[in-house]
Amino acid sequence: MTDVLVLNGPNLARLGSREPDVYGSADYAALAGAARRWGSDLGLEVEVRQSDDEAVLIGWLHEAVDSGCDVVLNPAAFTHYSYALRDAAKLVTAAGRTLVEVHLSNPAARETFRHTSVIGGVATGTVAGFGFDSYRLALIAVAARRSTR
Ligand code: DQA
Repeated sequence: MTDVLVLNGPNLARLGSREPDVYGSADYAALAGAARRWGSDLGLEVEVRQSDDEAVLIGWLHEAVDSGCDVVLNPAAFTHYSYALRDAAKLVTAAGRTLVEVHLSNPAARETFRHTSVIGGVATGTVAGFGFDSYRLALIAVAARRSTR
């Protein structure tokens, strides 16, 4: 059974070729593989998904609520303006599950429009700026919280 859904928003399937100076040269498959491996090292069954579609991401957050999964969410550009995704993320934490917002880059050190996260206020916590390691750190936080539940 899946313990953690690792959900990735728009344009993250383009990792490797998308702005490598910002996001690095490793591709999405490498990120997905690393996240599954880190999860397994922590004793977690991790499923990694990506969609460019807001409605699909919202559906996956509903699935996390219904199946009792924790979530690591990189909302990508939706971070900065999607109240619909925020409301769905809130359902996860309101249900008592952990939701960690992650970013490869550090949005606070980039363009002004990236300084706002509408997700952060309903997340359990946020990890940003460590490249792929943001996901590893998020999974460590999820595992730590699960061990005290
Ligand atoms: C991102 C940061 C967002 O501002 C951007 O729109 C992304 C990726 C990150 O992981 O650093 O697509 O979420």
